[in-house]
Amino acid sequence: MISFILNDEEIHTAEKPGSTLLDFIRYRAHLTGTKIGCREGDCGACTVLEGQLKAGRIEYRSIVSCLTPLGNAAGKHIVTIEGICTADLNPAQQALADHEGTQCGFCTPGFVVALTGHTMEYQPSEPEAAIESMSGNICRCTGYKSIERAAITVSNMLKTKNPDNPIGWLVSQGFLPAYFTAIPERLKALGKKTDTGVAAKTVIGGGTDLLVQRPDEIAETEPMLLFDRKDLKDILEENGHCIVGSAATAQDIMQSTLMRAYFPRLKAFFFLVSSEPIRNMGTIGGNIGNASPIADLVIFFLALDAKVHLQNTRTDEKRIVPLRKFFLDYKKLDKQPGEIIRNISFPIPDKNTHLNFEKVSKRTTLDIASVNSAIGINMQGDIIHNAHVALGGVAPVPFYLEKTSSFLAGRKPDLDTIREAYGLLAGEIAPISDIRGSKEYKSLLARQLFFAHFAELFPKKICDRELLKLL
Ligand SMILES: Cc1cc2nc3c(=O)[nH]c(=O)nc-3n(C[C@H](O)[C@H](O)[C@H](O)COP(=O)(O)OP(=O)(O)OC[C@H]3O[C@@H](n4cnc5c(N)ncnc54)[C@H](O)[C@@H]3O)c2cc1C
Ligand code: FES
Ligand code: FES
Repeated sequence: MISFILNDEEIHTAEKPGSTLLDFIRYRAHLTGTKIGCREGDCGACTVLEGQLKAGRIEYRSIVSCLTPLGNAAGKHIVTIEGICTADLNPAQQALADHEGTQCGFCTPGFVVALTGHTMEYQPSEPEAAIESMSGNICRCTGYKSIERAAITVSNMLKTKNPDNPIGWLVSQGFLPAYFTAIPERLKALGKKTDTGVAAKTVIGGGTDLLVQRPDEIAETEPMLLFDRKDLKDILEENGHCIVGSAATAQDIMQSTLMRAYFPRLKAFFFLVSSEPIRNMGTIGGNIGNASPIADLVIFFLALDAKVHLQNTRTDEKRIVPLRKFFLDYKKLDKQPGEIIRNISFPIPDKNTHLNFEKVSKRTTLDIASVNSAIGINMQGDIIHNAHVALGGVAPVPFYLEKTSSFLAGRKPDLDTIREAYGLLAGEIAPISDIRGSKEYKSLLARQLFFAHFAELFPKKICDRELLKLL
């Protein structure tokens, strides 16, 4: 039995936990404002909000309901477009209408829900963040500028929002219906009533890979649901290491105070990963478990030489494997039946450790990489003490460049080093031609991204003009 609150109504359902929240919303609850576009997380027409009690307050995030296993709704407040309707158009709807941000209207509920999610954040609104909140929504009609103007209008309306009590403020201003104020108490009373399928064969995090790849099969399963496991969520420091729980999402990592303190440019790196709703759902455990050769989070953590902590759910046995050794071949992991990833860990970087992440894809957001790369460099004075270089899209697995990384250790980050290191890198990789680019194009990108790391990390030592001499 899965229990949750859908808009203002308490739901208790015996539907399969692997079926989609979208199908429940449309075909069981008959709320047809939530649209079906792609069923692959790409269009945002099915966007809903997921509200959850965290540290004594309710937090809302946008998610795509087409990739959300119904079981992941348990114990939460799910909000569809119908659930944010007030007596008149709410201000987000009105702004879209005023700025002619809606034409055929198919995408509009998704945009309104995503933008409303932005208004509910516990922080002041910035116009860029209001626009970014809709990064997972596609419109075929308007050309986006009118939608962006509507987002800016809404952001400006939030100037007097009380960031400590956004929901109360939004209700008082007619953004949200009054029932929202009672939701935290109702969720407490509801508890989290679902079986997380401990002995199940199929493991699901956010579902953003699995429900694209095998939706019909998953819909019939009783999967092991890891997304809301509290013991797998934390991001914390322990014995000189940072531990990231496998159920932490890309957005959790991006917003983690700890991670942002270690990596000041983290936000800019993670903006390149999918879109806001997919980042709200996709976990680090899923990014590793899916074993895609272009997995962005894996590439990032390879540059930190992270370790994978596994636990066998049948025998309780635990073991630790370096992330760089975890990928055996295309989609093949060093993982035994019954094992799950509990967390990953990496040594806490000191002030001499520098990290850079680069990604080239056909579009800036909501697109997977043609080639991505990250480098972690620890300096001792002018000398590279150690380096970890990772490249995606150039091998059957997310690739850790052993030879290039060890070559860099003990050298100065100058043009000679970069030239020689690139020679090794070119010998280590073996890209193939596929839908994301020809092997020649990917080799070219690998070189450019490798050079870009040095231009970014050592701008005073290596200028772009000098790097051009290496081409
Ligand atoms: C529209 C869209 C855009 C995307 N863009 C990007 C992008 O830009 N960059 C990128 O890297 N990815 C992208 N992805 C892919 C996906 O979002 C990520 O790989 C995400 O991190 C997967 O996490 P998940 O929790 O949703 O995985 P799930 O789908 O739940 O699981 C994926 C696999 O991992 C296994 N698994 C999950 N958790 C564990 C665990 N704890 N232990 C063991 N196995 C586990 C599952 O069994 C499954 O085999 C995109 C996906 C979509 C739909
Ligand atoms: S239907 Fe397109 S994102 Fe869900
Ligand atoms: S208004 Fe037609 S798809 Fe956006």
